[in-house]
Amino acid sequence: MSHSKTALVTGGTRGIGYGIAEELASAGYDLVLGYQKNQERAQDAKENLEKTYKTRVFLVGGGAEEEATVDAYFSCIDENYGGKLTALVHNAGGYLGGTSPGKPDANGSWFQGWEAYEYYQGMYPKCFIRLVEKAVTRMEDERGYIVGVSSPGCNNSCSPLLNYIMPGISKSSMEYLVRHYAKQLAPRRITCNVVIPGYTKTEAWEPVLKEHGADLIESRVNSFGMKRWGSPREVGGVVAFLCSEKAAFVTGVALPVDGGLHLR
Ligand SMILES: NC(=O)c1ccc[n+]([C@@H]2O[C@H](COP(=O)([O-])OP(=O)(O)OC[C@H]3O[C@@H](n4cnc5c(N)ncnc54)[C@H](OP(=O)(O)O)[C@@H]3O)[C@@H](O)[C@H]2O)c1
Repeated sequence: MSHSKTALVTGGTRGIGYGIAEELASAGYDLVLGYQKNQERAQDAKENLEKTYKTRVFLVGGGAEEEATVDAYFSCIDENYGGKLTALVHNAGGYLGGTSPGKPDANGSWFQGWEAYEYYQGMYPKCFIRLVEKAVTRMEDERGYIVGVSSPGCNNSCSPLLNYIMPGISKSSMEYLVRHYAKQLAPRRITCNVVIPGYTKTEAWEPVLKEHGADLIESRVNSFGMKRWGSPREVGGVVAFLCSEKAAFVTGVALPVDGGLHLR
């Protein structure tokens, strides 16, 4: 069965991105899912989604920070979905080197250097610009939805996390771009929003739990708002709402999906 709605989800094969993919598939979307290099997990994701939701799923590997990877996402859309895109979700992300610094360096700086800066700039705002510029030429007026995935502390709704400076600068830029594109695309009635997940249980936390100890992280999670982890599908459900007609009049917002973490 062929659906008439298509979505591109970067980093859609594991964690929050897979939760987003599940919710979009259950809402009738056909999918293109990006991943970095874990081909086995990507294949599992495709098989599970196709079997459970009778949807079509295409996979594209490679670093989202590379222009060639973004080009490959859109070649896939053009070849398989006739160049039509309904929703774009830029979710791919992670810490460079698997974990964040637990303490500042000898000079008291959390800054990890320009290499890390460039990596995150490439992964979040630069990739987002490339994605949006290509996506909007494939979206119909009044039927296009764009969502970015940011992180807590990147705007005034939540205090910044000191050890998140490197990805934080780049996520903040993406949030600015979301408001820019929301304004630019409003006349076409294409929406552009960002969600801000709180502590969400995914494999991305494994190196952090290892480095800092599970007890410390659990006690942090248990000290804010609803005092629990969120699930990828809880974030995915909100993203799917933003990618639906029900949210057609919502644009340019940064929506925490965090059980009240931003209220601390
Ligand atoms: N988990 C949280 O508590 C939390 C909270 C706030 C915000 N976020 C944000 O949510 C997003 C997803 O996080 P997550 O916890 O779901 O991570 P995750 O479980 O580690 O999954 C990451 C996904 O992104 C892909 N990916 C990673 N680096 C990539 C790259 N350079 N290019 C292309 N794809 C890449 C991975 O592909 P492979 O399988 O090939 O590695 C995988 O599909 C990130 O943007 C993160 O900043 C997460």
